[in-house]
Amino acid sequence: MAERIVSSKSKPEDATLDNSLRPKHLSDYIGQEKVKGNLSIAIAAAKKRKEPLDHVLLYGPPGLGKTTLGHIIAAEMGVNLRITAGPAIERAGDLASILTGLAENDVLFIDEIHRLSHVVEEVLYPAMEDYALDIVLGKGPGARNIRLAVKKFTLIGATTRYAMLSAPLRDRFGSVFRLDFYSKDAINEIVKRSASILNIKAEPDGIKEIAMRSRGTPRVANRLLKRVRDYAEVKTNGVITGKTAKEALAGLDVDDHGLDDLDHKVLHTLIDKFDGGPVGLETIAASISEEADTIMDISEPYLMQLGFLSRTPRGRVATKLAYEHIGVPYKNSKEPETPPQGSLF
Ligand code: ADE
Repeated sequence: MAERIVSSKSKPEDATLDNSLRPKHLSDYIGQEKVKGNLSIAIAAAKKRKEPLDHVLLYGPPGLGKTTLGHIIAAEMGVNLRITAGPAIERAGDLASILTGLAENDVLFIDEIHRLSHVVEEVLYPAMEDYALDIVLGKGPGARNIRLAVKKFTLIGATTRYAMLSAPLRDRFGSVFRLDFYSKDAINEIVKRSASILNIKAEPDGIKEIAMRSRGTPRVANRLLKRVRDYAEVKTNGVITGKTAKEALAGLDVDDHGLDDLDHKVLHTLIDKFDGGPVGLETIAASISEEADTIMDISEPYLMQLGFLSRTPRGRVATKLAYEHIGVPYKNSKEPETPPQGSLF
């Protein structure tokens, strides 16, 4: 599969972008108003009590700002941030060494927390609840349990798969926030802000064109902005107008809803090969030689948000809107009984 410009998965080239464009404080963070409101109260209360913030779970599709919120929470609390990821913590000892290295009230951010092994999760529970590490010394009948104290800390867990978290882990978070796709207005503001930070001259129409195709995802918006800037610098006087943005984006095979080749393949497979469904995710994945996880994490949530695809107990179904979008006459009456929803899980 070719590189996707609209993939919400993080790419190495995003790293420098992320750092300069990432808002540093809640007040610079655009959108996700509900999450921001609840977080600012929780942060203010924890600071007033001089306690660490309760553990926070952030979930939702990739690219919506979970790591950015991690940075912001640590900055607002005035503590250090340690970032790691579920698959990087292979053994219980890896987690123990991370936890013992934290200073009082520090924030530990674990990305893809749904990929922690069972053994590591077991070490995390007493650490989250009692700030304690239960260590087993030795093996067999002579083994001894000892309990070590760790400094008080805040765990921020991030995941694209809320449903894959075990119930005991989920229950140990004091706050659980779901990040949603950003509204058109919010993405517009984000593109405007990023253009200003990067000293890019962009007319309102140019910004609008980029925002429209950004899948409600800041990471995609910032990436498209960069590509359109390249185009404007090479082909025109460097100013992003509506016309330049349109031309640049058409060349990148991103359609006016932000759908790319992968999304089109998913929709065409569903409609052309399976008569609109219902069909299982694995079947769709196999027929377009793509991983089911990629479709589930990246393509599907956005297609569902647009109301192009819905999940039913019998499989995925293309909606009338999807037929209209790709220009195939809608002839069956297999619309699901429940309307397509923005729900991701
Ligand atoms: N850049 C990336 N995400 C952002 C957000 N939510 N607000 C402002 N700038 C951003």
